[in-house]
Amino acid sequence: MQIDIFTLFPAMFQGPFSESIVKRAQERGLLQVALHNIRAVTTDKHHVVDDYPYGGGAGMVMKPEPIFAAIEAVYQGGPMILMTPQGRLFNQSIARELAQETRLTLLCGHYEGIDERVCEHLVTDQLSIGDYVLTGGELAAMVVVDAVGRLIPGVLAEGSADEESHSHNLLEYPHYTRPPEFRGWRIPDVLLSGHHEQIARWRRKESIRRTRQRRPDLFAQLDLSSKQDKKILKELDEEE
Ligand SMILES: C[S@@+](CC[C@H](N)C(=O)[O-])C[C@H]1O[C@@H](n2cnc3c(N)ncnc32)[C@H](O)[C@@H]1O
Repeated sequence: MQIDIFTLFPAMFQGPFSESIVKRAQERGLLQVALHNIRAVTTDKHHVVDDYPYGGGAGMVMKPEPIFAAIEAVYQGGPMILMTPQGRLFNQSIARELAQETRLTLLCGHYEGIDERVCEHLVTDQLSIGDYVLTGGELAAMVVVDAVGRLIPGVLAEGSADEESHSHNLLEYPHYTRPPEFRGWRIPDVLLSGHHEQIARWRRKESIRRTRQRRPDLFAQLDLSSKQDKKILKELDEEE
């Protein structure tokens, strides 16, 4: 996958993209990230990329000309996504959708935002990473690259993204590693039993318990109509 990122602050990406999974994906040729400085295409003396808003008010607005020029010089198709707190809320299912693409373009806003004509005539999608306002779209773009990048086939070990939180509207079950007892706290016996079926059932039950306690909105969307899930729900009701 090739991801082109358009930003006024390309240096912000250096740390996050040169560590861990995103770094490995790039080294293995599964992901290529190109950073484009929008300011680089300006031809005026002061390399101006922003201007006062029509109608007055606080803050500056990113001008349309440099954004169109920077993107049109390299864009070769695929989703053209503006990072904005006004976009649809990014989640695991959107990450999965985007991981199917071979090219993605991410545009990072700054200041009060960008000229609306960019939204109307250039971008094809708008994504928000949460209901809060960041200073710029860079951190949001990093979040999208990380969440999408790890879902590109071959980046993670086979199957390791299948059972994670949010993959089926469920939060993941608790994890434990050695030692089996730490400061008197023992791990659940079933995990030492070697009994795969019982371990799978315990994990399913703990996932359901967590999702019900922590994310009633996700819990409401679950299909728990199987015989096993009905039994698990009954047990949880009794325990809680
Ligand atoms: C200070 S914000 C502008 C917010 C804008 N005035 C508004 O109220 O919608 C500057 C830039 O940060 C980015 N940004 C801020 N919050 C974001 C979020 N939750 N998700 C994605 N991008 C965000 C966008 O690119 C935005 O153009």
